[in-house]
Amino acid sequence: MLQENIFLFVPNLIGYARIVFALIAFYFMPCCPLTASSFYLLSGLLDAFDGHAARALDQGTRFGAMLDMLTDRCATMCLLVNLALLYPRATLLFQLSMSLDVASHWLHLHSSVVRGSGSHKTIDLTGNPVLRLYYTSRPVLFLMCAGNELFYCLLYLLNFSEGPTVGLGSAGLFRVGVWLCAPVAFLKSLISVVHLVTASRNMAALDAADRAKRK
Ligand SMILES: *[C@@H]1O[C@H](CO)[C@@H](O)[C@H](O)[C@H]1NC(C)=O
Repeated sequence: MLQENIFLFVPNLIGYARIVFALIAFYFMPCCPLTASSFYLLSGLLDAFDGHAARALDQGTRFGAMLDMLTDRCATMCLLVNLALLYPRATLLFQLSMSLDVASHWLHLHSSVVRGSGSHKTIDLTGNPVLRLYYTSRPVLFLMCAGNELFYCLLYLLNFSEGPTVGLGSAGLFRVGVWLCAPVAFLKSLISVVHLVTASRNMAALDAADRAKRK
């Protein structure tokens, strides 16, 4: 039988396209805000598609999940580096946001791998109603992630222009968008903190169980 090539699975091909789009976005970021944000958001949007493709074609793989997660983390991190250049006085906030993002995903993923669960989104946090919604409702998860990405993207755009007027005095569409998406980005960070704490406790529980077994 012909050995199937994981690297050529459709969701993974979409994953490579996401990386190319992100590279194009960062190439254009210093000069051309609209081109850059279009490619950045396109790369983010495809994230929703490759999940669908993986389920529809039964092509969900560990490699694909890793590719996806790393693309997300790296793309967001690169955008935040750019924001730190544009808004130097907020650099510490961007550094905190990056660190929280990387640390919480890393620990969450690792603790769910050692627990033997399939996805970094299936850990048991269902006791908490907000998190239960976040995990079980795809639209909520999508809106949260999209709102978070839009927040940073609009913040980037705002450095170049206020955007089209929306009849709210001098505040343009980009500034209004930033304010609308800010609560979502804040809530997403809060969820990351919960992940960080929960994953730490899971890891410590595994350590404690291991040590008890050895005695
Ligand atoms: C955009 O960022 C640059 C670099 O920090 C800054 O000099 C400029 O004033 C910013 N423009 C706006 C409109 O915020």
